[in-house]
Amino acid sequence: MTVQPRPSILSIEPYIGGESKIPGVNRIIKLSSNEGAFGPPPSAIAAIQGMAAEAHRYPDGSATALREAIGKAFKLDPARIVTGNGSDEILTMLILAYAGEGTEVVMSAHGFAMYDLVGRWAGSRVIKVPEKNLTTDVDGMIAACGPRTTMVFLANPNNPTGSLLSNEEMVRLRQGLRKDIMLVLDSAYAEYCTAPGYDAGDKLVDANPDNTVMTRTFSKIFGLGGMRVGWAYASPKIIDVLNRVRGPFNVNAAGMAAAIGALSEQGWIEKNVAHNSAERERMSEALSKAGFKIWPSHCNFFLCDFGSVERAKAADAALRSRGLIVRAMGGYGLGHTLRITVGTQEENQMVIDALTAFAANG
Ligand SMILES: Cc1ncc(COP(=O)(O)O)c(C=O)c1O
Repeated sequence: MTVQPRPSILSIEPYIGGESKIPGVNRIIKLSSNEGAFGPPPSAIAAIQGMAAEAHRYPDGSATALREAIGKAFKLDPARIVTGNGSDEILTMLILAYAGEGTEVVMSAHGFAMYDLVGRWAGSRVIKVPEKNLTTDVDGMIAACGPRTTMVFLANPNNPTGSLLSNEEMVRLRQGLRKDIMLVLDSAYAEYCTAPGYDAGDKLVDANPDNTVMTRTFSKIFGLGGMRVGWAYASPKIIDVLNRVRGPFNVNAAGMAAAIGALSEQGWIEKNVAHNSAERERMSEALSKAGFKIWPSHCNFFLCDFGSVERAKAADAALRSRGLIVRAMGGYGLGHTLRITVGTQEENQMVIDALTAFAANG
């Protein structure tokens, strides 16, 4: 006899993050975790340095200053915001609070891996709905919900596919779900999305406060993945539930200072969006010209399609031989593609050169 976890835990495939090392290669270009092309905003760096001497103090458990800064930046009521140790923690808290043994959680086939991981941890059955053209199928998601479904997860735009559902489709999804099913709209890449009329989710939450939540992060456009700060916008009732389950000091002091600093950096979002849109376009054009299919993306990454798993692996090896690390997609059932993060102009050119040479060599 020995200690045993609940059986569903052993069905979880441990999350594999983007790699950051290649043995024997000195200069590594990491384009595997969508971390942002420009590093952290200078005001965030200064804020982290500025709080170092106060590191012995516990942080403000209710993250008041951070919630107020988020509220001001995004024109939201700070009382309807809860912050977390990355949005991963918020997603985790939501699932552990609203799903569990005897329930079902619905996500799209190529949705973000955490929904599956934590859904299984909670003991829920996780249902993955086939996509159409690597895009969430709204009718399929609605049809997949049964009497035991308590939550539906959707990243919009989605990681790893980069695809986007229109506002009309999002509204249609919400209207097609029973009122007692929570829709979690994961908007980790919202700031990068330039689609006309795009709603990151706050309008959908305002229209459906009883059962809709938006999650956001400082890990992507704000370049603070290492600080672990995310947040959710929801009704006071749902915020109250999250405040009951979260750790009392779940966001650390350096993370809070960094996030507040990042929000104060003038022009940061505009600079990043302009760079990202232009570079994603430039890379897509060059790689299409080299003969690869590039899936349209609304994020700071895109999927490059090599047509077969073998060819994607060979392309990955060719990139690695030049120190370029991108993300293999086997874990997402998309092994014939590689997910490439948009980096600096120089880094992106290295990817273009490497894959153009790869294509030329057959
Ligand atoms: C769609 C999506 N949601 C959530 C996250 C989690 O971000 P974090 O926990 O760093 O806020 C990521 C990170 O890759 C993501 O791609």
